[in-house]
Amino acid sequence: MLEPHMDRHDATPDNSNGGITPFTFSGPALAECRELMTHYPGEFSKSALIPILHIAQADNDGWLSVPAMDAVANLLGIQYIEVYEVATFYSMFHLEPVGKHVLDVCETAPCMLRGSDDLIEHIEKRLGIKAGQTTPDGMFTLRAVQCLGSCGGAPMLQCGAKYHEHLTIEKVDQLIEQLRGKETRTNYTDHIDTPAENGTTASA
Ligand code: FES
Repeated sequence: MLEPHMDRHDATPDNSNGGITPFTFSGPALAECRELMTHYPGEFSKSALIPILHIAQADNDGWLSVPAMDAVANLLGIQYIEVYEVATFYSMFHLEPVGKHVLDVCETAPCMLRGSDDLIEHIEKRLGIKAGQTTPDGMFTLRAVQCLGSCGGAPMLQCGAKYHEHLTIEKVDQLIEQLRGKETRTNYTDHIDTPAENGTTASA
């Protein structure tokens, strides 16, 4: 059995904010984490792992560096490897820097049959990048992903907490323009207070 806090991943310049800046939670983020942890006291603290990883990611410019993941492990009092296992499993956690707005376009069969290939090709041309890349200005990352559980809204994409469904080329163009004018990063922790327009819903 592993000792607590053993099996730690080595921080390198590529995975740790240039290898210079250790991650520490901002005051508001730490307060939010601590409030969340009150719902999972004692031996149940690990149940807060996923929402706290989202908070850490939003607090670390949109990605999880090794120091950020280690800070989550220290906060929850769990092994580092337990955090790495979860962070590397879910595609919503980014292990390297990403653009301010990550566009996850579903390319699984129902969305593909409704035109997701054309949408991806259009976005690639419009942004001048390929799926899996980030624009040079750091504004957008485009990814082709597997089913996001909203097949009835096909074709669709996820950006932060929002699902954009029943997409057309025109709706995608509108979305890109809206995001270009947005000053803040789009995070999975964003709160969505009202049903959005154009078939947009909050993700699960
Ligand atoms: S196939 Fe695209 S959301 Fe399910």
